[in-house]
Amino acid sequence: MADDISFVEQSDVADADHGDVARPKESQRDPVMLRERLGVWLTGVQGADAMIEDLRIPSANGMSSETILFDARWSGQVHRLVARVAPLAESDPVFATYDLDRQYAVMRRVAETTEVPVPALFWSEPDPGPLGSPFFVMERIDGVIPPDVMPYTFGSWVTEASDDDRALLERSAVETIAAIHATPVDDDLLEAPGDGETPLRAHVRRLRSFYEWAGDGHPRSPLIERAFGWLDDNIPAESAAALSWGDARIGNMIFDEFRPVAVLDWEMACLGPRELDLGWTIFLHRFFQDITEMAGLPGLPHFLGRARVAEIYREATGYEVRDLDFYITYASIIHAVIMYRIQIRAIAFGHATVPDDPDDMIMHRATVDAMIAGTYWADEDDEGSGS
Ligand SMILES: Nc1ncnc2c1ncn2[C@@H]1O[C@H](COP(=O)(O)OP(=O)(O)O)[C@@H](O)[C@H]1O
Ligand SMILES: [Mg+2]
Repeated sequence: MADDISFVEQSDVADADHGDVARPKESQRDPVMLRERLGVWLTGVQGADAMIEDLRIPSANGMSSETILFDARWSGQVHRLVARVAPLAESDPVFATYDLDRQYAVMRRVAETTEVPVPALFWSEPDPGPLGSPFFVMERIDGVIPPDVMPYTFGSWVTEASDDDRALLERSAVETIAAIHATPVDDDLLEAPGDGETPLRAHVRRLRSFYEWAGDGHPRSPLIERAFGWLDDNIPAESAAALSWGDARIGNMIFDEFRPVAVLDWEMACLGPRELDLGWTIFLHRFFQDITEMAGLPGLPHFLGRARVAEIYREATGYEVRDLDFYITYASIIHAVIMYRIQIRAIAFGHATVPDDPDDMIMHRATVDAMIAGTYWADEDDEGSGS
């Protein structure tokens, strides 16, 4: 996740002159070494005739895990595969804990119980031995993804599509999210809330402890702390919980002919009200749209609007979405905490400096402020007031 944030580089910086500061080493993954190690592992799980034919590490990668694209041959057939690798512990990962095997289990559950397009799963390797950290291997899916860098709103296949095609993308993406929510999760697949706690309150509690962990010993964000107060005062009564995809946004879907053919990136999956995913989807579009408007470009002001998303969701499920504005605001706050953590990490690595106002670490601070104040939405037509 968080691959929309392009201003933080994960490059390894020479650590000689900053010996006291933790240094990221994650980019030291060398494709030649990886190919060798992955090849050894593959013959172990698939048989002696298995071999890697091609391997590359895409440059526009997310920051919390690594993706390796490779082709492997066995039994006379070439398989086009992707390995998703957990972050190396010594890279000071964005998230305090990372359970890749659970992501794999969630994807498997969704694949087995719904029509949601999930890449076929091959293996999950929880042993950090073979590649340095756990990984899983899935099928590689062809198609196009709305880009994060530069955001698709600046000019991309999404903006260039016809209105009808874009409406199809919007509808099929929301319908896919609705289908995810039908996944049965009435067992211990996902972390249960505490005694007497609702899934939403558990979600807020985990976000707060993530913030406390990220901010320990660092300048605090008054905006985030105010936002937690707002959450306490405004948390709504919630509907029955469902499987929440987590990083629910069109930038984590692969499309073909404007329909999702793969749903990726399950690391934020959890138990939660359905509106969590809808709020995140709408907010992430608004995040990109606001940046686009600040750059003087039109973007897609009506795309993934609140009323439209709620209507598509109702048509797909019969469920009436509630308190959507709360969940959009909550998404802006979650995103603020993730940005804060990423900036704190960048400062620790010497890639950024502490701003005079710590809230400046949050690129969309004006949006969070306006959403909390209830002044963000300019009109009924879902256009933001800008920020
Ligand atoms: N199964 C797959 N098939 C094709 N491409 C994939 C697949 N999984 C990941 N990718 C590529 O890797 C990128 C990052 O994957 P994603 O799961 O979103 O991880 P993250 O954003 O956490 O790095 C995707 O945007 C896509 O380009
Ligand atoms: Mg992603």
